[in-house]
Amino acid sequence: MRKKVTKAIFPVAGLGTRFLPATKSVPKEIMTLVDRPLIQYAIDEARAAGIKEFIFVTSRGKSALEDYFDHSPILEQELRKKGKTELLALLKDTNMDSGAIAYIRQHRALGLGHAVWCARRLIADEAFAVILPDDVIAAETPCLKQMVEAYAETGGNMVAAMEVPPEKASAYGVLDVQEDMGSIVSVKGMVEKPKREEAPSNLAVIGRYILGPSVLNNLNKMRAGAGGEIQLTDAIAADIGTANGVYGYRFRGQRFDCGSKAGFLQATVAFALARDDLRDDLSAYLREVVNMSKAAE
Ligand code: G1P
Repeated sequence: MRKKVTKAIFPVAGLGTRFLPATKSVPKEIMTLVDRPLIQYAIDEARAAGIKEFIFVTSRGKSALEDYFDHSPILEQELRKKGKTELLALLKDTNMDSGAIAYIRQHRALGLGHAVWCARRLIADEAFAVILPDDVIAAETPCLKQMVEAYAETGGNMVAAMEVPPEKASAYGVLDVQEDMGSIVSVKGMVEKPKREEAPSNLAVIGRYILGPSVLNNLNKMRAGAGGEIQLTDAIAADIGTANGVYGYRFRGQRFDCGSKAGFLQATVAFALARDDLRDDLSAYLREVVNMSKAAE
């Protein structure tokens, strides 16, 4: 039987310049969708998929992330004293087991492939997951859990995949499909941020991966690719045609690009509308806004 995937890497070293000035002092991953930091969604998804060890690849200025995952005994004590049991449960739910989180610094911003490579010594010789917290996926079955289940069938390397409008494909890693089996596709090529006319398809890589240790070996010798950065896509593509193979997985769910302001706002609205305590007020307000803009036309 295939060994369970229990480790996940979270590359969180990015400067978050698109969200300046907020990211002057707040790591992007701590910015909140409603009342939960972006990173919490990624952690919850990883936990649901059976991940037990969480490896953060960070950089200077990210210490708020470490504090966020620390226990907060004084706050917990206060809430207990005041009988705020629901809040206490909510807070405790975000606590991580001692020793479950490791932080590794990426000293230079050399790209996503390099960030993952920085965690190589904590992975050793086993399959691991990578989650890009910017890609938030709302799904009945969390995306990584879907992938872990599909991976049990395929092995090799698996990347989350989604059809995007062809004119947007150049913002992504793009798959060249060998065989389309519905939710799973086998892959014969992968290109990071192709020029529009060179994109092999409009099936884009989304930030969820289950990778074999061979990808870390490939990263050992990887040179800079698109944008002058060491690309994870290239290191995965180097496994195509080997015994490991590469698969794309079309997940069920809605993906939000929280690396962009518009995506972040859309996710905020979607997650708020999914909440019993906010739905009525917010949808009334949204209707009002729509009616106002219609009236102005
Ligand atoms: C990264 C990956 C890219 C992938 C994308 C998904 O790019 O390099 O292959 O399609 O995430 O969000 P980035 O968005 O960091 O430029």
